Amino acid sequence: MHLKDKNVILGICGGIAAYKTCDIIRQLVKLQANVECILTKSGANFITSLTLQTLSKNKVHQNMFESIGTYDINHISLAKKADIVVIAPATADIIARLAVGRADDLLSCTVLTSKAKILICPAMNSDMLSHKAVCNNMETLKNYGYSFVMPESGELACGDYGSGRLAKVEDIVSFVIKQLN
Ligand SMILES: Cc1cc2nc3c(=O)[nH]c(=O)nc-3n(C[C@H](O)[C@H](O)[C@H](O)COP(=O)(O)O)c2cc1C
Repeated sequence: MHLKDKNVILGICGGIAAYKTCDIIRQLVKLQANVECILTKSGANFITSLTLQTLSKNKVHQNMFESIGTYDINHISLAKKADIVVIAPATADIIARLAVGRADDLLSCTVLTSKAKILICPAMNSDMLSHKAVCNNMETLKNYGYSFVMPESGELACGDYGSGRLAKVEDIVSFVIKQLN
């Protein structure tokens, strides 16, 4: 099983689980996928672009307005290149932004532009996850055809017990493999 010639655009949002994304990248790269990370402004508080760049062996995309060397507009070229867009961890905030079609950063613009499969892997506090607003937003995204690998139950970073922990890396990677083969 390999993912040679497959382009995975990986969005990393501002949650504690961002450190687990490193393992997702390592496993996808091992399978020979080309992994390009989009790190949100909040996500950069949790993990460095240097780490993501080193593991993915690619430049990390952070800024929609950076100067365009190749005349490729970043969010359009990433969206077109994607065989799949994975957001892990996906915050309540990006889920809300996508549910209303916001396009206020590179990640949301890329998702709105892409015709590729969109996989959302939420991670958040269990009370946040069960809030009606978050549930309704996830329902909206499911109606748009987006897929979800839902969080697990267990001890959360805040010390609470409940659902909200990012799904197992193996489950996220398995979904990507199944989708791209
Ligand atoms: C220490 C800390 C941990 C956070 N963890 C989460 C989280 O696990 N899930 C979540 O949805 N938001 C979490 N947030 C809030 C997000 O960072 C915030 O909603 C932000 O606007 C998300 O932006 P983004 O979706 O563009 O990355 C956390 C904030 C802080 C300060």
